[in-house]
Amino acid sequence: MNTPIYDFLRKYAGNQTLRMHMPGHKGMSPAEELYGAYALDITEITGADSLFEAGGIISESEKNASSLFGTEETVYSCGGSTLCIQGMLYLMKQENRCVIAGRTVHKAFLNACILLGLEVIWVYPREEKGILSGKYEPEDFEKALARLNGKEGCVYITSPDYTGNMQDIAELSHICRKYSAPLLVDNAHGAHLAFTEEKLHPMQLGADLCCDSAHKVLPCLTGCAYLHTSSERYKGRLKGAMGMFGSTSPSYLMLCSLDLCNVFLEKQCRKTLSEIISDAEEMKKTLGGRYIFRENTDHLHITIDTSAMGWDGRRLGEQLEAMGCYPEYAGREAVVLLLSAAEPWEDILLLEAALGGCEDVPDSGYEGEPPVFPKPLQAMSMREAALSGSETVNVREAIGRICAGVKVPCPPAVPIVISGEVIDENTVNTLEFYGIKEVEVVI
Ligand SMILES: Cc1ncc(COP(=O)(O)O)c(C=O)c1O
Repeated sequence: MNTPIYDFLRKYAGNQTLRMHMPGHKGMSPAEELYGAYALDITEITGADSLFEAGGIISESEKNASSLFGTEETVYSCGGSTLCIQGMLYLMKQENRCVIAGRTVHKAFLNACILLGLEVIWVYPREEKGILSGKYEPEDFEKALARLNGKEGCVYITSPDYTGNMQDIAELSHICRKYSAPLLVDNAHGAHLAFTEEKLHPMQLGADLCCDSAHKVLPCLTGCAYLHTSSERYKGRLKGAMGMFGSTSPSYLMLCSLDLCNVFLEKQCRKTLSEIISDAEEMKKTLGGRYIFRENTDHLHITIDTSAMGWDGRRLGEQLEAMGCYPEYAGREAVVLLLSAAEPWEDILLLEAALGGCEDVPDSGYEGEPPVFPKPLQAMSMREAALSGSETVNVREAIGRICAGVKVPCPPAVPIVISGEVIDENTVNTLEFYGIKEVEVVI
């Protein structure tokens, strides 16, 4: 597989050119460790193409990615999945569709809805694991689609979620087809799913649009992501949609990283992934007598269900960090240890040793039981509340008031209460459980 972006940047950095263009660092790094990176960091000079109007090296590289993921079209994002989500929702807004979404969304989705003035019909999980994760019944989305009474809709679902929990994308796509509703998947955590033996990627299971954060599970720089479509309808429209929100100065280092990742995906990914998956399964079996791992997660999220063990995940996280092992997330109810498709195999042995070396950390329960998923009533549109005047108050004083700013613990950035919703007792308990002491309310 060729690497047109990397080749161009390397050649440019290697020639003694006079850089009469941005960026202002002129290829010179202030720190030795970054010499190579600054030299490759350029702007849209002749031959370098342009991300949102691509027709040269960027478009060639994106076509490589599209063939690797098996999509109708794949485009690059230097603004993470956040920019891809904005683009997907812009397309829905253009088609005047109602958005039906599973509530365990990332805040990027809410912010995009607020910017675009999209109101959301929420579907709540039937079984929940704190606010981070839940299991949805596809039939609940079907009921919501049926209730649209002829209005055009779309379905938006997060899978895998922050803890790796997967939804039934094939069934959701089957339902969506019946109602001619596009299925949009936030697959930020699942770029690797296109390279597992089993077909698990949303593009393979019938989704129309999906975003993958390449930086989460593939060997890419932070902020690199893909927006994919499997549908003729959206082909050719992705860049226009993303260009509505994205910077006109996307980073060439990130584009280069996505370009080079294509070589990894072609040559190595399937093999390393299958080895990592089997090593991780082996580790879970070995530690299974002591730790409870969440089921139904994708293979790279090792999620310890500390709630089910009666442990406090935060204390477990502290012990791991003291041994030099930094988890992706260590909350009271769960600890998420995130592997990559390019994880060195020794890491799994080191992780096993670290987990084996931790002491029991029973949950003292002093902050109360993990809360029930709040389902606050909506009193105002999300956009109106987010754009109205607000004040910050202590959570206890917020009972009965309308939430102005989306309140999320970050990570994992899954909202507890959303702008426009009335804050009730259960919402306050949940906010307190996640350590949130203040909230913005509409004046
Ligand atoms: C489920 C989910 N969706 C979307 C995002 C946003 O992705 P990015 O950080 O690549 O913009 C995140 C980030 O953590 C996420 O967890």
